Amino acid sequence: MSRRHAKTSRAAIALVLALTATGALAASAAETAIATRQAGYKKMGAAFKAINEELKKSSPDMKLIAANSAIVNTQSQQIPKWFPKGSGPEAGFKTKAKPAIWAEPAKFAAAGTKLQTEAAKLQAFASAGNLDGVKTQVRAVGGSCKSCHEPYRAED
Ligand code: HEC
Repeated sequence: MSRRHAKTSRAAIALVLALTATGALAASAAETAIATRQAGYKKMGAAFKAINEELKKSSPDMKLIAANSAIVNTQSQQIPKWFPKGSGPEAGFKTKAKPAIWAEPAKFAAAGTKLQTEAAKLQAFASAGNLDGVKTQVRAVGGSCKSCHEPYRAED
């Protein structure tokens, strides 16, 4: 290892120790938090897509819609755990989470709660076999995804 490299890694180690000492999220914890939420959103996105695909059919399968609504609902309840402080872009891992999430935590939390409310209603309509209710409510759920993504998720 060259002297310059040795110096750099000593500096990196010192930085990690400093962050840990101040209570900031350790790099590995940030990486885990980011991976956890991205996997959760992927699951939620796949379930929501399956619902929308099913609704395009002439006689949608309500059991399938109910099962996927339950996934959206369950995942939405995890959102409050998915964004520990220090897991934003400053952690140095690939994430689309914008710093605004941590700058205005109350507004961000409200966006999560909104989805939880709408997703629970969707699940209720689906379990009751109410297709018209499901069709209307799917738009409300989609609206809550969008109203969080616009302010808090970075574009591609
Ligand atoms: C409270 C805010 C919020 C709500 C509500 C929300 N999202 Fe997201 N979503 C995010 C953020 C922030 C990211 C970026 C996460 C990252 O990259 O670390 C994201 C990422 C995603 C991703 C990409 C995951 C990946 O990395 O591959 C998908 C898919 C997704 N969301 C789908 C949805 C769907 C579908 C809904 C509604 C049913 C929804 N989201 C509701 C904030 C939200």
